[in-house]
Amino acid sequence: MTGGAGFIGSFLVDELVKKGKRVRVLDNFEAQVHQGRIPSYLNPHAELVRADVRDRGAVKKALTGVTHVVHLAARVGVGQANYQIRDYMDVNVGGMATLLDIIVNEKTDIEKIVMTASMTSYGEGMYSCRSHGKYKMHIRPEEQLKKRQWNFFCPKCRKKLDPVPTDEDTIFENKGIYALSKQTQEEMLFSIGSLYNIPAVSLRLFNVYGPRQSLSNPYTGVSAIFISRLRNNVSPVVFEDGLQSRDFVSVHDVIGAILLSMKKTSANFIPINIGSGIPTGIADLAKTLSRLLGMKIPPMVINEGRKGDIRHCFADISRAKKLLGWEPKISFHDGLKELVEWSLYQKPTDLFEKAVSELSSKKLLIKHDH
Ligand SMILES: NC(=O)c1ccc[n+]([C@@H]2O[C@H](COP(=O)([O-])OP(=O)(O)OC[C@H]3O[C@@H](n4cnc5c(N)ncnc54)[C@H](O)[C@@H]3O)[C@@H](O)[C@H]2O)c1
Ligand SMILES: [Zn+2]
Repeated sequence: MTGGAGFIGSFLVDELVKKGKRVRVLDNFEAQVHQGRIPSYLNPHAELVRADVRDRGAVKKALTGVTHVVHLAARVGVGQANYQIRDYMDVNVGGMATLLDIIVNEKTDIEKIVMTASMTSYGEGMYSCRSHGKYKMHIRPEEQLKKRQWNFFCPKCRKKLDPVPTDEDTIFENKGIYALSKQTQEEMLFSIGSLYNIPAVSLRLFNVYGPRQSLSNPYTGVSAIFISRLRNNVSPVVFEDGLQSRDFVSVHDVIGAILLSMKKTSANFIPINIGSGIPTGIADLAKTLSRLLGMKIPPMVINEGRKGDIRHCFADISRAKKLLGWEPKISFHDGLKELVEWSLYQKPTDLFEKAVSELSSKKLLIKHDH
């Protein structure tokens, strides 16, 4: 498994070890995620290889005797990717290229490759007008955001559109570097996998949350960022009007999906959404976290936008149900409670303002006409 020291990977390691499987982890302990520490949650029963996923020699060696590859190593900051372009493309696309190059050219025993793609590649989700049916909306132009017009309206009757579930046949159209890197990974995997008959799976994850999420990494994971703010006694900052939504899925449910896809053949070469299927408002998320932490700190809704942000996207999970026999088991409330309880034992550094000032210096925040 690559990236097995990370948030999702470490839980997968635990489950595989519990099942008596032999697990080898390749991870370079990326500084932004691990802050120079080896995480204490690492399972001692997994073999650990500290190396970069682009290091051909190390990856080749790590693949010795391996039958199932779960490729999770990636840089994961969606906003940051748009100004650390070379590095994100290098790791995310180059990592997949390295892996496939070895599998195709060297003697290995690989029976399956599973990767985690991302909902970000869809861009905006699907919407519907009660009178005029469904629409796939596009990333809102800067001009619209400048006017603080956060919502979408029906092109025919101008009524506000409601978000509806987004399925896997929806075309990808996000032009952000992270989204493009994950889309490219998926296309590379399916193309080489089918050419060489290597069973390949791509799970398109929505917003995964849970314990072990890096609380001090301000570039990823809105629940972790909010908790880090609250634990430092400051309000979570909410962009737009706070009514934008995301689909939050517990890391344990994601692990369930990965395990099923490692075993079953029904998901080979068919991308599958893994989400809760339920949209949650971002301001509501901030309020719930504050309440669960026993705090009375309200979110700061700033009514300002970020370029390229989406308004709504939540998963249609019928394919996962049908092909994998998977469905989410952990309610949002229980999942958040678990995350909050874990966070009480952490000492998060709140680096949110650093991340925002980087966005601002790269002119990636919307300049509003006041
Ligand atoms: N968390 C989410 O909401 C989410 C959503 C969609 C997709 N994904 C995908 O799931 C995977 C795991 O994400 P996560 O949330 O666990 O992130 P994470 O940052 O916690 O884990 C990623 C791991 O990869 C390692 N890594 C980074 N660059 C590396 C390199 N060059 N060589 C070797 N190892 C490297 C890091 O050290 C880290 O341990 C990623 O591929 C990510 O794109 C995550
Ligand atoms: Zn209409």
